[in-house]
Amino acid sequence: MGIERGDREFCVSSSFKSSGQVSYELHDDVAVMTVNNAPVNALSLAIRQDLQANIERFDSDASAKAAVIVGAGKVFIAGADIREFKLPAIEPHLPDVIDRIEECTKPVIAAIHGVALGGGLEVALGCHFRVGVKGAKVGLPEVHLGIIPGAGGTQRLPRLAGYEKALEMIPSGAPIGTSDAKAAGILDHVSEESDAVAAGLAFARSVIDEGTPMRRCSQLVPAAVDAKMFEAAKLAVAKRARGQMSPVVGVEAVEVASQTSFAEGMEKEREMFMALKNSAQHRALSHAFFSDRALGKLPEIEGVAPRQLKAIGVIGGGTMGAGIATSALMNGLSVTLIERDEEALGRAKATIAANIGGAVKKGKLSADQEVRIFEEALKLSTDYGSLSNADLVIEAVFEDIEVKKQVFKQLDAVCKAGAVLATNTSYLDVDAIAAVTERPEDVIGLHFFSPAHIMKLLEVVVAEKTAPDVIATGFQLGKIMRKVAVRAGVCDGFIGNRILASYRTAADAIVMDGSTPFDVDEVMLEFGFAMGPYAVADLAGLDIGWATRKRKAPTLAPNERFFTFPDRLCEQGWFGQKTGKGFYIYENGARKGVPNPTVFEVLAEERKQKKITEQNLSKEQILERYMAAMVNEAAKVVEEGIALRPLDVDMTLIYGYGFPRWRGGPMQYADEVGLEKILNNIREYAREDDYFWQPAKLLEELVESGRTFADLNAGKGSQSATKTRENA
Ligand code: CAA
Ligand code: NAI
Repeated sequence: MGIERGDREFCVSSSFKSSGQVSYELHDDVAVMTVNNAPVNALSLAIRQDLQANIERFDSDASAKAAVIVGAGKVFIAGADIREFKLPAIEPHLPDVIDRIEECTKPVIAAIHGVALGGGLEVALGCHFRVGVKGAKVGLPEVHLGIIPGAGGTQRLPRLAGYEKALEMIPSGAPIGTSDAKAAGILDHVSEESDAVAAGLAFARSVIDEGTPMRRCSQLVPAAVDAKMFEAAKLAVAKRARGQMSPVVGVEAVEVASQTSFAEGMEKEREMFMALKNSAQHRALSHAFFSDRALGKLPEIEGVAPRQLKAIGVIGGGTMGAGIATSALMNGLSVTLIERDEEALGRAKATIAANIGGAVKKGKLSADQEVRIFEEALKLSTDYGSLSNADLVIEAVFEDIEVKKQVFKQLDAVCKAGAVLATNTSYLDVDAIAAVTERPEDVIGLHFFSPAHIMKLLEVVVAEKTAPDVIATGFQLGKIMRKVAVRAGVCDGFIGNRILASYRTAADAIVMDGSTPFDVDEVMLEFGFAMGPYAVADLAGLDIGWATRKRKAPTLAPNERFFTFPDRLCEQGWFGQKTGKGFYIYENGARKGVPNPTVFEVLAEERKQKKITEQNLSKEQILERYMAAMVNEAAKVVEEGIALRPLDVDMTLIYGYGFPRWRGGPMQYADEVGLEKILNNIREYAREDDYFWQPAKLLEELVESGRTFADLNAGKGSQSATKTRENA
């Protein structure tokens, strides 16, 4: 079949067999095309072929006067099929299918429910009218995948909704609701119907009856605009994106719409889209997208129901306990918080009140919810007996194994059968804590990050005897609290803090050998971290590391390098931000500091004492060492089964340690750099320090067999990794 349309010919091969994933059904004189590709109607090759074929059919179907495109199931269309991005692109390409929709001689209406995202919204923009049902959302989230809309979104949206709206939606990737979309002209109508087919049919009827003129977005004349607007947008977006390219390219693509014809704009959009699609940033962000969804998919909890979770207990109302309680309360759980005395309870309540008050100010909670929290949901007590009805208790007392054991003995005595007993310990042995109870199968680590009501990461630490439904409950709590839960095993520091300790040691060595903490911080900022390791140390408090070093000093291996230069700061009472001085100086409570000049003196003295010849590492060398330490320890963490897969490490570092998402996490980054290169670097560094730089067996094994961390994520060769784990 071939249909002449101007200078273009649209062909559907006679051998093409519809997969039936887009159905065509006449409702009187209106054709309804339903896209049916569960779960989110992604625009796979089969869908594009079917859609194109059905549009041809509609255009030549004399009994149809208008067509409605809808999605089956929960959403309209969530965009291109991201899984197909790795495969060679096969015709028909989405921009051509959308052009074909737009060029139809009869009106086509998109009836949107759930979401119309990315290519889904672009399909809708190719239609002549768009109707949304209540609760629908539309958006162009491509930047989150490191790309830009590649099927006309950057050219049609500004023509339809104006440059300002396009510059708001495309670089941010944030979806908007129906009223916003209607006000911007993206939706022609918001229906009271909840059913998209009914809403679409009613709108089609009115278009047919009233002879409403068809509107093609590509033919709309863009409004005149001051070019300065794009310059300002680029600067603002680049600052926010901190190294991520796609949001800035999104602005540039919208700018193109102001400078050229639609056809030329489409070509430029394609070029920009393809360049980004072939970039490491797109690979990294796709990896992050799928990893987010893989985190909770664990064989040990597949089909396992979590235990009931309504009332929780929190022991200790300090920094972490108050934050954890806040997070639980904000997400609808009842909380009983236990402290040692009334004074400590009062402090905890004040912290929670300040946190909740802040959330109300930001519009995250209503004033009514605030009242309900303090009148009904929060109970404060010094009596462990008040925990008898708690479904789950999280201990957040001092980081001291004896104190924790004492607390768990008390919990064992008062908690109901089946209650989950969790510890928020950062480093201590969860097995040893579980062992003091009569019910170690109910004990788990739930490691939150500070501030606990804000930070997204939750390490679910599975101890030797933890029952599967207790693990499932840990993940369920993460979901309720809107955290990103990652499974971790028991070791000193679990996944995140263990890797942190390793790259901090590498950073200290870099500094001791001639660089400054400020050099290291600068390199890591340029890499994309929100803060460098020394600014982070100042924020966390230098006293924590000082105490750890004092504990560790007597147990050092003979050839282990030990870095004490931060102690010289602590000895002067400089613990970082909280004392106004640390590696940086924070004038008048400023959150961003300036380098503390004493650091240079301290370092010079320490180097002299230890007879260290200063090396002049370049920025690249600093980065290579720092990342090699991170990747090497991360590989050990996977090798030992502390992290189930490399992707669990990647998400831990992204959500808990500020690793730039657009680099995909350390393991994804290592795959991009090349594992062989990293291993060779480690072997080179080992010539100077063979205690610290011991290559991970897994890394060696992967290099030897020519595999990557991505292969392990995909289950390729995971057997060998599992074997390594069993042998560990
Ligand atoms: N392609 C392929 N698979 C997709 C997909 C897509 N665009 N969107 C979601 N999925 C998959 C998920 O991976 C998940 O698979 P598993 O069950 O195997 O893990 C499944 O669909 C369900 O997804 P969620 O778990 O995320 O379900 P949800 O109900 O929480 O959220 C959603 C639904 C809001 C649509 C969310 O999935 C989402 O935001 N998807 C991505 C949307 C997007 O980025 N679209 C742009 C694509 S790029 C593009 O369109 C380029 C272009 O210009 C042509
Ligand atoms: P904190 O010192 O701020 O608070 C501890 C609180 O526990 C104090 O208010 C204390 O009065 C109370 N407490 C002590 N013994 C108690 C008992 N027997 N019964 C009831 N309350 C008791 O300590 P923080 O920082 O909140 O740390 C708590 C735990 O969380 C530690 O295990 C720590 O390692 C861990 N953690 C800390 C993080 C941080 O950034 N501060 C991050 C993640 C975990």
